[in-house]
Amino acid sequence: ATTLGAAANQSNRYFGTAIAAGRLGDSTYTTIAGREFNMITAENEMKPDATQPQRGQFNFSSGDRIYDWATQRGLKVRGHTLAWHAQQPGWMQSLSGSNLRQAMIDHINGVMAHYRGKLAAWDVVNEAFAENGSRRSSNLQSTGNDWIEVAFRTARTADPSAKLCYNDYNIENWTYAKTQGVYNMIRDFKSRGVPIDCVGLQTHFTGGSSLPGNFQTTLSSFAALGVDVALTEVDVTNASTSQYAGLTQACLNVPRCIGITVWGVRDSDSWRSGESPLLFDGGGNKKAAYTSVLNALNAA
Ligand code: G3I
Repeated sequence: ATTLGAAANQSNRYFGTAIAAGRLGDSTYTTIAGREFNMITAENEMKPDATQPQRGQFNFSSGDRIYDWATQRGLKVRGHTLAWHAQQPGWMQSLSGSNLRQAMIDHINGVMAHYRGKLAAWDVVNEAFAENGSRRSSNLQSTGNDWIEVAFRTARTADPSAKLCYNDYNIENWTYAKTQGVYNMIRDFKSRGVPIDCVGLQTHFTGGSSLPGNFQTTLSSFAALGVDVALTEVDVTNASTSQYAGLTQACLNVPRCIGITVWGVRDSDSWRSGESPLLFDGGGNKKAAYTSVLNALNAA
C-alpha cells in the first residue's frame, strides 16, 4: 500500500493524526491529512476548555469542524479528552469537592451526548498519574480517588458505542513506576468490572535511537488485561527512523494494538516543532521516518 492508512488497514489497524481546526484552510495540510490517515484526533478542539467554556454552555463548533472534515472523507474520529487536570475552562479550575465532581459528570454527559454514536473512542481520562506511579495531584484527584472510575462509568452510560480509553504519557517503559501505576489501575478496573476498553500510550519519545525498555512488553501486558492498546500521540525527537520503525513494529507484533496516531501532520504543525518530530517536513515532504513506518506496515 502507498499510504499510511491503507498500509495499516492491511492488518485491520488504523494510522491517524491530530488535526487542528485552524489549519483546515491550508490545502497542503488537508491534502496530506486526507490522503495518508484514516483516524483523526482533534488536537485541542474537543477538550473541556473548548467544549464547555461557560458552565452549562457547550460549544462544539470547532470540534464539529474537525469531525465533519474527517467523516466527509470517510475517516474515523477519536475523542480527546473528557476529564483532565489541564485545559479546564476557568470556571472549572476554581471548583472543588462535590461541586467539581458533579461538573465532571455533567461535562462527560454533555459532550458525549453531542457525539453519541459517532466516535470510535474517547480518551475519557487523560494524564492522571504522576511520574512516581501514584495519582497526580489535581483538583479532580482531590474530589476523591474514585474520580477516574466515576468518569468511566458515566461515560459508558452516556455513549455505549464508544470505546473508553485511559490515556497517558511516559507509560511506554515497562519497568517505569508510572507504567506500573497505570497498569495496576487497569488491572483493578478489569477485576471489579469498571468499564474500560483501551489504554492510550501517548508515545512522545524524547531522544536516543532505541525504544524505551520493553516497549512491546508494555503493550502486550496491558493487552493481556483484556483491553485494546493504541499509540495515541506519537512524536519522536528528530524523527529517529529506528524509533519510528520500532514503535510501529511493536504495535504490529501485539494483536490488540489497534492503531497508531501521530501528533500532527508536518513538523511545523507540531507542539514540538523545534525538534522536527513528525513524518512530514514543513514543506509537506515525506521524511525518512515516513518511509520507515510505511515499510514496516507493508511488511506485516
Ligand atoms: O487558541 C489559543 C489562541 O487563541 C491564542 O492566541 C494562543 C496564544 O498562545 O493560544 C492558543 O491556545 C493554544 C492551543 O494549544 C491552540 O494552539 C495554547 O496556548 C496551547 O497551550 C495549546 O497547546 C496544546 C497543549 O496540548 C495544551 O495542553 C497543544 O496544541 C497540543 O498539541 C497539546 O496536546 C497534548 C495532548 O492534549 C495531551 N498529551 C500531551 C500533548 C502535548 O502537550
